[in-house]
Amino acid sequence: MLLEKIEELKAQVKELKANNEEAIEALRIKYLSKKGEISALFNDFRDVSPDQKREVGQKLNELKNLATNKIAELKEAFKACEKEANKIDITRPASPGEVGTRHPLSLVRKEIIDIFARQGFTIADGPEVEDDQHVFTMLNFAADHPARDMQDTFFVNTDASDVTRNIVLRSHTSSVQTRVMERTQPPIRIICPGRVYRNEAITARAHCFFHQIEGLYIDKGVSFADLKQVLLYFAQELFGPETKIRLRPSYFPFTEPSAEMDVSCMLCGGKGCSFCKNTGWVEILGCGMVDPNVLEACGIDSKVYSGYAFGLGVERITNLKYMVKDLRMFSENDVRFLDEFKASH
Ligand code: PHE
Repeated sequence: MLLEKIEELKAQVKELKANNEEAIEALRIKYLSKKGEISALFNDFRDVSPDQKREVGQKLNELKNLATNKIAELKEAFKACEKEANKIDITRPASPGEVGTRHPLSLVRKEIIDIFARQGFTIADGPEVEDDQHVFTMLNFAADHPARDMQDTFFVNTDASDVTRNIVLRSHTSSVQTRVMERTQPPIRIICPGRVYRNEAITARAHCFFHQIEGLYIDKGVSFADLKQVLLYFAQELFGPETKIRLRPSYFPFTEPSAEMDVSCMLCGGKGCSFCKNTGWVEILGCGMVDPNVLEACGIDSKVYSGYAFGLGVERITNLKYMVKDLRMFSENDVRFLDEFKASH
């Protein structure tokens, strides 16, 4: 009888399972405490006949050792589990996900917009697919101007019998200026940031699209001196207070007089280096006084109002600020390149 009971308990003990401290203690009490099942068998052992004592005693001890080891084993397993669980600090903040960076062109565009916003300019926007009227005709381009050639401009729709009915991808954001002038009377003080398209082969130095910011100010008595001051402030804000500017005569159909603006070389400070080809100057934008023909074409009285306009390329300025040598980098979206601008946020 006793032997059977021992075997039965042995089988039970082997299968014991518990996964918390209380449950393990309950098992220890059930089997190993003074009032436990194994102790009870030791009491019964007293009544075992002397010839069986040796065998039963041995089995009983085996059972007791088995139970003691099993309980110890369960305790060990539980402790290991607990340790593992403690390794996870659920209060720790989650590791931050990879965040993207602002594109260098966006950074520079924002910087330029901010500089003009501080001078009272507001942003104007317009369509990228434009009609000839707003891109060329109203801006005083002659019907046979080379910009109207397939080689220079992307055409969406062409009408050989009347070029003024062509639809194009805008080749400059001056088209936004004509749209604003057409519907607003002065004073007008706007900048027009946006993407423009030109029919160029893609190389390190040219692309079929790029980004411009053009500015326009029209009011009574606006002079070239006003233009010069606004551009000087811009150049010094962008490239530093030591920056000098220089205006060279130029030609655009929509401005008269027209000029191209250089800034003193940001690398050598004007002394002359390989970057500025030893001239001390680098070109950054085109500008001029709005041609009276343009004002009239847009419904603004050129005898009452005058104004200036300027236009710059965001890629060009970005190249100058960050010494990017290849224009194609801006549209390839190579994260190794984009990551370099992380710190500039
Ligand atoms: N629209 C000219 C261009 O795209 C830039 C410019 C704007 C020049 C305004 C003078 C005045 O090249």
